[in-house]
Amino acid sequence: MQNILVTGGCGFIGTNFIRYVLAETDFDGRLVNVDKLTYAGNPENLADIVQTYYPQRYAFIQADICDRQAMAGIFANFEIDTVCHFAAESHVDRSIVAPDAFIKTNIEGTFNLLQIARQHLDRLVLFHHISTDEVYGSLGADGYFTETTPYRPNSPYSASKAASDHLVRAYSRTYGLPVTISNCSNNYGPYQFPEKLIPLIILNALEGQSLPVYGQGLNIRDWLYVRDHCRAVWAIMQKGTRGETYNVGGRCEMANLETVRLICDMLDEMVPGSHPGPRRDLITFVKDRPGHDLRYAIDFSKLQKELNWCPAESFETGIQKTIQWYIANREWVDRVRSGEYMSWVEQQYGNG
Ligand code: NAD
Ligand code: DAU
Repeated sequence: MQNILVTGGCGFIGTNFIRYVLAETDFDGRLVNVDKLTYAGNPENLADIVQTYYPQRYAFIQADICDRQAMAGIFANFEIDTVCHFAAESHVDRSIVAPDAFIKTNIEGTFNLLQIARQHLDRLVLFHHISTDEVYGSLGADGYFTETTPYRPNSPYSASKAASDHLVRAYSRTYGLPVTISNCSNNYGPYQFPEKLIPLIILNALEGQSLPVYGQGLNIRDWLYVRDHCRAVWAIMQKGTRGETYNVGGRCEMANLETVRLICDMLDEMVPGSHPGPRRDLITFVKDRPGHDLRYAIDFSKLQKELNWCPAESFETGIQKTIQWYIANREWVDRVRSGEYMSWVEQQYGNG
């Protein structure tokens, strides 16, 4: 692996992945980050990476993965031999309101990349596809998702991710593309767009605003600190068996209400006096998400046995780091919320 195309590198997990690979692994090649810069993509996340690593070890190109010509040019010009595919529309609520972009980017965009990768089979080392545990649907009170759990996606988002997983697998079987797929549970950590539960709750609680909990807050998610996800992806890329799928999870199941209460209590301790009374008082139960999956829980024993991967962070240590990051990066939060970083992008890269 010398020239790795990272798609969606300006989003939450992609940003953390690029930072991890360049700063914490022995990789000595180049990462080529291709991102359309939707509302969720912010190249400012990687401004210091540009200073340190551009152009030998890092390059950024603003492009849409659905643009066949642009992507073919990038593959050829940068002699791409490996793909790590994060780019997607990622927010379930948005997929319920406006599914079109999910079908376009998640399905057609992945198809486009596979078609181009197929034309470079001679030098392709790996196409790694990042996916989600949501493709498996919802669990009842017992059991875990394994790599052989049947797909039963319930939202337009998870259905679009399921379709992309199937395409990747089909290109492996039909055309011999060297692929791996990872299906991961809920991530949290630095640089997460504050529409997702954890950053939304941290910021609202800091500001004394209401904390919206869907339904009764009984839905269960399996939380994983984002750096642990990045470690897993890198391990799979290095040593994973081609053609295989790996589940990644935190062994950290919590009902949403418990998660929100824990964040409130931690903030009461970490930032005392900034809010009158306990922050738990801010919790507001709101209308439930349609088709809301009850429970996700991942069995990651395959990854553990084959690649010796385990989460390094507990929820207590991970959430503390996350809260500290959001407190220390209020300017980032303000800019992301205002959409102001788009003018920063224009200053840096022009209008196109
Ligand atoms: P994100 O929404 O924070 O970032 C997505 C990035 O993709 C953004 O930078 C955006 O600009 C870019 N993008 C969107 N459409 C594009 C297009 N057409 N062309 C090029 N770039 C485009 O998402 P995330 O939370 O970082 O998720 C990354 C990947 O991980 C996704 O594939 C998601 O399905 C998967 N995943 C996420 C989680 C999670 O908890 N966040 C868990 C498991 C899997
Ligand atoms: O499981 C992996 C998935 O996790 C990823 O594939 C998705 O890209 C990612 O967005 C995430 O999906 P969720 O829907 O689980 O994440 P979200 O942060 O939107 O919601 C987490 C839980 O909290 C979910 O049960 C819905 C609930 N929720 C969410 C929001 C935004 C609330 O109760 N209130 C809220 O305001």
